[in-house]
Amino acid sequence: MCGIVGHLGPQNSVESVIEGLKRLEYRGYDSAGVSFVDETNHLKVFKKTGKIENLQKILEEQNISARSCIGHTRWATHGEVNDTNSHPHSKNELSLVHNGIIENASELRDGLLKKGYEFNSKTDSEVFLALVVDHVENGFELIDAIIATYKIVKGHSAFVILNGKTGEIFAIKSGAPLVCGINTVSSEVLVSSDPYALAGMVDKIYFPEDKVLCHLSVGNTNLLNFYELDKEKSKRYLSKKQDMVHDPADKGDFEHFMLKEIHEQPELIRSLTQFYFQGEGRDSLEKARQMDFSKVHITACGTAYYAGLVVRDYLEKFNKISCSPELASEFRYREPLIKPNELGLFISQSGETADTLAAQALCKEAGLKTLSLVNVEGSTLFRDCTENLLIRAGVEIGVASTKAFTQQVLTGRIFSASLNEEFQNESFKVEMTKKFALLAQRVDELLARSEEIKEVAESIYNYEGFFFTGRGVYFPVALEGALKLKEIAYVHAEGYAAGELKHGPIALIDEQKVNIAIVGPELFEKALSNVQEIKARKGVIVTIGPRGNKEAEELSDYYIPLDFEGLDELSPLYVNVVNQLLSYYMAKFKGTDIDKPRNLAKSVTVE
Ligand code: G6P
Repeated sequence: MCGIVGHLGPQNSVESVIEGLKRLEYRGYDSAGVSFVDETNHLKVFKKTGKIENLQKILEEQNISARSCIGHTRWATHGEVNDTNSHPHSKNELSLVHNGIIENASELRDGLLKKGYEFNSKTDSEVFLALVVDHVENGFELIDAIIATYKIVKGHSAFVILNGKTGEIFAIKSGAPLVCGINTVSSEVLVSSDPYALAGMVDKIYFPEDKVLCHLSVGNTNLLNFYELDKEKSKRYLSKKQDMVHDPADKGDFEHFMLKEIHEQPELIRSLTQFYFQGEGRDSLEKARQMDFSKVHITACGTAYYAGLVVRDYLEKFNKISCSPELASEFRYREPLIKPNELGLFISQSGETADTLAAQALCKEAGLKTLSLVNVEGSTLFRDCTENLLIRAGVEIGVASTKAFTQQVLTGRIFSASLNEEFQNESFKVEMTKKFALLAQRVDELLARSEEIKEVAESIYNYEGFFFTGRGVYFPVALEGALKLKEIAYVHAEGYAAGELKHGPIALIDEQKVNIAIVGPELFEKALSNVQEIKARKGVIVTIGPRGNKEAEELSDYYIPLDFEGLDELSPLYVNVVNQLLSYYMAKFKGTDIDKPRNLAKSVTVE
């Protein structure tokens, strides 16, 4: 969703901000804007709906050089998508960009309107700027005006303000992500809502906490200072050197990030056991397994929730621990029965999903221990949970999550394994490492058969509707397969428990509907009989099933044979790669924007 980048330093700030914003494109946005202090020491603002290129074109015509700049990509919440509602918002040589939602904006706006303030936009964000301006007009120093305004607004937000007179930048957050960084060699200082924007640009990175005001300035001995709300210098931030040399523009030989990320899976799968059994992950796994609990509440959103369904199966099957998975957006408002001796388990790629964070806060408040399976180290979820297990997926750019799902499930499997006594035996770890390696090998073999899956995709992509079906361990990947297809190919797809079809959806089956039937070794006969039911109603059958099974093959219009032997509980991940490839190629035939599908955001930081 919305992205923020601010830059101050001897280099051209506008170029650095545009570079940063481009890296955040993957999050999803509908307009972009920058404001900066130009060579004549005046504040300039440019904003434009649509892609960053639209904005860039205007900026190039101006031949701009600036020493201080803030920029924003907006994903509309309050107020329609247009240039006026885009950020930055400006008044009296002050400029603001904002991520999040100001919950009491309309009441604050009414108060300001009564005082005669004239708003330009319909956004909640402009209310923050208006309050700062109002305070300054009433004699406050700018820093005090920002702090006073921050204390009035409610909701989860990050605010970044540029002082057009001095070029200094202020940033403060409440429950929303914010990161600052310094390049000590080139004396540049940056702020962003996403560490990815700063990758390779800084050598020191800081994650300020809520209620800490960040002050970016040049000509000062410190480029970056942190203050408590009483203006005392603060040390309350997490400082961490991070290896972020990754080039965001690098898709390698792949046409899309999604395809690249699908292909990264075998390597990631192979390295996960090494990380947790011999490497740096041993400590965090040890801490996680020491958490004593009688029941697990898994909450997550989207793909991460489906990963949670597989992890639920693991915890119940291998650990006999009662486990209830739930969508975070429902859990947080349902007054769930949660007790202090239970565990809250949160699964998230970004670690910034608003509903997942709210569910975590709810559990923490109720005295539960909390554990995350998360990709982004230092993210809000990572910082708020009692313990964390990193899923080690690397940066995921494609909005539709692929490798993160695989790594979430596998990290869940490692956590589940660690809870049992047998985990103390080296031989158990060796066996588990072998099983992971076998999965990696099978995925490699599958990727080598991409052409075959592409051909199936070409034959079916124009049909009217798609049902992904599975039973038992394959049900969560049926849900995930359907989600992937609708996300990137914009076709109607549903994931269904195969046994439930006859309780409703079978009414929709005709020769224009496709059933992508996952028929793995578990509950094979039962799943196959569900396929028969679809076949009898003239549905088109694509079966993902065991190699060499004549009966399943004859029943199907298209058959994708898999080698399930030895994969056991990891087999849903193997099937899921077929679903990933099918969706990818169907989207490609449809000609959609695969890495940045319409209306979607990579990190959903508002509820
Ligand atoms: C968005 C993304 C999905 C993701 C979900 C949860 O909807 O587009 O790919 O699964 O958010 O995100 P998280 O970062 O918490 O895993």
